Amino acid sequence: VSLKNFNTFGVDVNARYFAEISHPDDLTELFLDPQWLQTPRLVLGGGSNMLLINDFDGLVIRMNIRGIEHRINHNDVTVEAGAGEVWNDLVNFCVQHGYAGIENLSLIPGSVGASPIQNIGAYGVELKDVFHSCKAFEIATGTFKTFTNADCHFGYRESVFKSDLKEQYIIVSVKYDLSLTPRLNLSYGAIAQELAARGVTEPTIKDVSQVVSHIRVAKLPDPSTIGNAGSFFKNPVIAAADFESVKQKFTNVVNYPTADGMVKLAAGWLIEQCGWKGKVVGNTGTWKDQALVLVNHGGATGQEVYNFSSQIIDSVYSKFGVLLQREVNIIS
Ligand code: EPU
Repeated sequence: VSLKNFNTFGVDVNARYFAEISHPDDLTELFLDPQWLQTPRLVLGGGSNMLLINDFDGLVIRMNIRGIEHRINHNDVTVEAGAGEVWNDLVNFCVQHGYAGIENLSLIPGSVGASPIQNIGAYGVELKDVFHSCKAFEIATGTFKTFTNADCHFGYRESVFKSDLKEQYIIVSVKYDLSLTPRLNLSYGAIAQELAARGVTEPTIKDVSQVVSHIRVAKLPDPSTIGNAGSFFKNPVIAAADFESVKQKFTNVVNYPTADGMVKLAAGWLIEQCGWKGKVVGNTGTWKDQALVLVNHGGATGQEVYNFSSQIIDSVYSKFGVLLQREVNIIS
């Protein structure tokens, strides 16, 4: 089975076996297959945060559990969605109903089931701010378990599902705590600017959603036309002392102090300073308006994109002494 249409990088590799899951019971059925535990597995939601390097000699599980349920209790809204729902469809559903909390996360590619794994975030909001719990299938035992917000050990683009419990669970549904009373997060400069430009003085969650979508469309390549997986690297977080030495040489370095006394640098800025922004190298390159995004200009292999990303890591390291980490999952 070709996976070309199942990963937003548009990399053309094959999977040996392929199963579509539209109900949690389908997983129980797979578990009963004697081959289950021996076969390598890869769960695909939107395929929007991965780079496939080779053919996959195992079972690709296409997560397609659908459904959105919502319950209102005074001002609080609990929304539970199937892991296979498209994330932005859920955002639109909530914005239409006036359920506030995820409007800043508009237009992030990917699925509901992937949202906790890397604690998706944008424009001042992270998934962990609204995450209530998720239900997940334990691969080794075939049982279902509920994870609370605390159980997930959320961090910047991190969760227990990427660390201690990596590849041990398959998320089947996620519950979010939203509200009928918006608490708008307009901390991100570009949002306030765009609202002002539109003459909006008392923004609604619909305004915020529209403005965020507008900013994303202007800056980020659309995966349906140009293969990409969003930010390819994380923004590096470094110690204050290390930051001081970077700052001595590069006085205009873009930086954000974090709550725990560290400093977050803008990876896109570092990459641009090394001259990579908009560069085309073979079939790959960085996006012309956002150097943190690597793109497939057509026909790139996963290996080609990976090698290019290594070149970027090396050049940022030799110029700034800062080691970039890939944010995209590398599947090889
Ligand atoms: N910058 C440059 N050159 C570039 C790109 C960025 O100088 O080529 C500078 C910008 O001028 C700005 C700073 O870097 O001062 C930050 O850029 P931007 O606002 O575009 O955000 P980002 O830090 O590059 C992060 C997330 C995005 C998220 C945006 C908005 C990560 C790895 N990325 O990007 O998330 O949409 O903030 O909140 O944290 C993703 O994870 O896939 C993703 C797209």
